[in-house]
Amino acid sequence: MSPITWILGNWKQNHLQDAAAGCAKAIASGISDAMAPSQSELRVGFAPSYLSLAAARPHCRPQSPIWLLAQDCAAQESGAFTGEVGALMLKEAGVEAVILGHSERRALFAEGDALVASKVANALDHGLTVVLCIGEALEAREAGTHETTVISQLSGSLSKVKPEHLDARLVLAYEPVWAIGTGRTASPEQARDMHRTIRGWMRDKFGAAGADRSILYGGSVKPNNAGELIGAGDIDGFLVGGASLDPDSFLGIVRAAAQTTRPS
Ligand code: PGA
Repeated sequence: MSPITWILGNWKQNHLQDAAAGCAKAIASGISDAMAPSQSELRVGFAPSYLSLAAARPHCRPQSPIWLLAQDCAAQESGAFTGEVGALMLKEAGVEAVILGHSERRALFAEGDALVASKVANALDHGLTVVLCIGEALEAREAGTHETTVISQLSGSLSKVKPEHLDARLVLAYEPVWAIGTGRTASPEQARDMHRTIRGWMRDKFGAAGADRSILYGGSVKPNNAGELIGAGDIDGFLVGGASLDPDSFLGIVRAAAQTTRPS
């Protein structure tokens, strides 16, 4: 388990620039108060669209404690890759971390583990923090193959990491597809059990450096279920979609996490 607690928002394809700036500003103005009760280190951030990064940036580090994230990053450094945005471009825009392998990119844009693995290695090579998403579809959960599905994604998506990548810059996010945007949350026990499976595999594969990675949960996290989830143990924070679009509900999740003592 990591001593750091992450609360990250994924704004997806939402918020035009004015709305992004307003949302970022409202979160920044309430963040110190929301984080105050925390006994451990809290890292809070959000991922606007590429085109709203500049609008949100004045409200992020170093002006506030908030990390600026991107929702994707090209697998290549630069070149003839029409439509892609690379790690150096993101860094220039003030981005510190990037979400990779989100289930929407895997399902809707046919991103496979091999492509995700290249993106992960490239982003880490360029000094970005990576939030790698993995998670099973409903069919796998119902068939009882959820653990093998997630471990297979993890193994494929981390196939290009190097030993030097296994530091705090590699963060994992377990997001069961059936819980994303559905209002159906994994139970605290389901989330905790999967996090233990992931951590066990990381230890077997990469040793202590692998086992120490932060593992976040994502899927219909709201202010009213965040405390219960984080209190279950082995959950190092959240990747939040829908509830991160509203500053009050996002800050409510930060506050719930800050007020809950995580079991050691
Ligand atoms: P959700 O999305 O919180 O709206 O379920 C989570 C995610 O896609 O990261």
